[in-house]
Amino acid sequence: MACERQPYQSGARLYKTHCANCHMDNGEGLGALIPPLAGADYLVNHRDELPCLIRKGIQDTIVVNGKMYAEKMPANEALSDVQITNILNYINNSWGNKNPAFQLETLREMLKKCQ
Ligand code: HEC
Repeated sequence: MACERQPYQSGARLYKTHCANCHMDNGEGLGALIPPLAGADYLVNHRDELPCLIRKGIQDTIVVNGKMYAEKMPANEALSDVQITNILNYINNSWGNKNPAFQLETLREMLKKCQ
């Protein structure tokens, strides 16, 4: 581990603290309750909604990789814009995911529009 290249250290640490208890260390989620992040089409199809989803949480009926989920994800109001950027870049580039990175400035604009 010490020798491994780890480009998303801050995001990885924040993920462990704030997300892994539900979405699991490997991003696979938990059965019918918690949707996966690893290989999740939601990250691609709803990319523009992700910053607000992290900050405000979500309770909706959503479809991830063809399966329906409807449990509540709590808000993360204490996470800064930078922390949300780091977490999103970590989950979008872990577990085989290879989605484009978020830039802090664009993410800030997206966060201003949260309901
Ligand atoms: C208490 C459990 C819980 C925690 C903690 C949690 N989530 Fe979630 N998350 C959920 C649930 C449940 C859903 C589905 C919500 C729905 O159906 O409306 C979800 C949905 C998502 C989605 C959209 C669906 C998908 O699988 O792509 C993303 C992205 C996501 N969470 C990322 C995160 C991140 C990043 C964190 C940490 C900052 C986090 N979650 C913390 C439970 C949690």
